[in-house]
Amino acid sequence: MSANLTPPADLDVRALRDLCEQLAREAGALIVDGRPDDLGVASTKSSATDVVTVMDQRSQDLVRERLAAARPRDAFYGEEEGGASGESGLTWVVDPIDGTVNYLYGLPAYSVSVAAVIGDPATDGAWRPVAGAVVNPVSGECYVAALGEGATLQVGDAPRRTLRVAEPESLGQTLVATGFGYEAGRRRWQAAILAEVLGDVRDIRRLGSAALDLCRVADGTVDAFYERGLNAWDLAAGWLVVTEAGGVVDDGTGADPRTAMVLAAAPRTHAALGARLRSAIAVVGEGD
Ligand code: IPD
Repeated sequence: MSANLTPPADLDVRALRDLCEQLAREAGALIVDGRPDDLGVASTKSSATDVVTVMDQRSQDLVRERLAAARPRDAFYGEEEGGASGESGLTWVVDPIDGTVNYLYGLPAYSVSVAAVIGDPATDGAWRPVAGAVVNPVSGECYVAALGEGATLQVGDAPRRTLRVAEPESLGQTLVATGFGYEAGRRRWQAAILAEVLGDVRDIRRLGSAALDLCRVADGTVDAFYERGLNAWDLAAGWLVVTEAGGVVDDGTGADPRTAMVLAAAPRTHAALGARLRSAIAVVGEGD
């Protein structure tokens, strides 16, 4: 972790976490309420994707409006149009719909991810999250974390549960989540890496929302997650949920997670899968 990313002593990370949760829940309700029931069978694909784009933007605009009122001195960095600089040193990093393809098809595995970070989220390795929330508005899962305060999961109105990563006995018993980018060359590289690794792990899951994949590492419903090509908004809240649940999140070599690779798991699993991924990359090539 970079030395200059120490949060100010008076930063109220619990209050930030609670605001992350409130915003992610509110945006989550918006995207569910605003999704037409027949979206997946719309007459043309482009009209369906237009709805998704509009809902992405509306979700982000809602979060931004709330933050402009509640935290006017902070910066904003989201997946959709409309960033803003700030003067407090804190930036809100938002994925208004993570898992947009699932959202398009009505697969109930999409989320809203809201995080407060220090540093510069547009630069790999130059930022870290201090509070975050990931909400799946269909399942009612709400994952939250604050730096030094642990990570919890609440499902619907059930009591919050403190999260702890699972440590399987061996790589061969490790259930690994991963994902694929949108660009064809990147996907081919990812598939080649996966083909190398697949024989050495319990199985693979491609669930379709990186933010939720990370949270699933934290709650032990998968053992590990890796992916090349994530952006800060896919990663910011889930990164903290995993580390506050006792997991390790980095780029597979000990440096902060970055576009080139994000690897998340309990410590021993992280080391074993990291080594296996490095040997796969040695065979397949570095890719782009
Ligand atoms: C995508 C999802 C997916 C991951 C992709 C991301 P989006 O985010 O998180 O699981 O594999 O790399 O781009 O586009 O749905 O916000």
